[in-house]
Amino acid sequence: MRYAYIILALLCVVLVTLLGFRGATSTNPPRQVFPDDVFPQMTNQDKYLPQSASPFFADGRSDRPVPAGAVARGTPVDDDILATGQTAPGQFLHGFPAGIVIDAGLLARGRNRYNIYCQPCHGALGDGNGITKHYGMGATPSYHDDRFRQMPEGEIFNTITHGKSTMLSYADKLTPHDRWAVVAYVRALQRAEQGSVNDVPAAHKTDLGLK
Ligand code: HEC
Repeated sequence: MRYAYIILALLCVVLVTLLGFRGATSTNPPRQVFPDDVFPQMTNQDKYLPQSASPFFADGRSDRPVPAGAVARGTPVDDDILATGQTAPGQFLHGFPAGIVIDAGLLARGRNRYNIYCQPCHGALGDGNGITKHYGMGATPSYHDDRFRQMPEGEIFNTITHGKSTMLSYADKLTPHDRWAVVAYVRALQRAEQGSVNDVPAAHKTDLGLK
């Protein structure tokens, strides 16, 4: 029985030794259980920590400035309204930014992106009856509610950019131009929902068997 207490005490010491130092930081290089004998100069090499000093460069800094003329990765969008959908913080744009040309090409692009990224939840018609509804995602609203018909284009753009509660952001999947294309397509879906026979151009009425 005495040994049991001793073993228990030892176990406690071992546990504290193993777990007690989690999260402790050290400036020493990590200990290597299997030292790299083949390329030790690659495993153990000098480095600069962020914002440290360097005698090597004339300005004494290890951080190097961005070279003149370097081009940022990704699509630079200079126009703030086009990039945010807002004319001022919290003020959503009504209509589309000047840089967006609404034509058949834009709507085709919007339909293509919508069907990939939005249709699974919002449905092909924008009525919120996407496939995810059958798997329990019941909260997807219909675009054909008045609130969404009245919603400024910039606010829909903003929802695509930042998401809204259970809906995630699509900023990493859709460029600003693609987001505007999707907004235009959402508007087209809303318009289609309210369409009537009078919207069919006269030239096509006969094709459809309409008077
Ligand atoms: C994974 C499912 C899902 C996908 C995909 C999705 N949404 Fe949503 N969306 C939702 C849900 C759920 C809500 C309701 C959020 C809430 O609780 O207000 C919503 C809300 C919205 C709203 C209304 C926001 C508001 O102010 O009430 C808009 C507009 C919208 N989505 C547009 C889009 C567009 C455009 C896409 C494609 C780029 C998209 N959604 C993709 C699930 C989704």
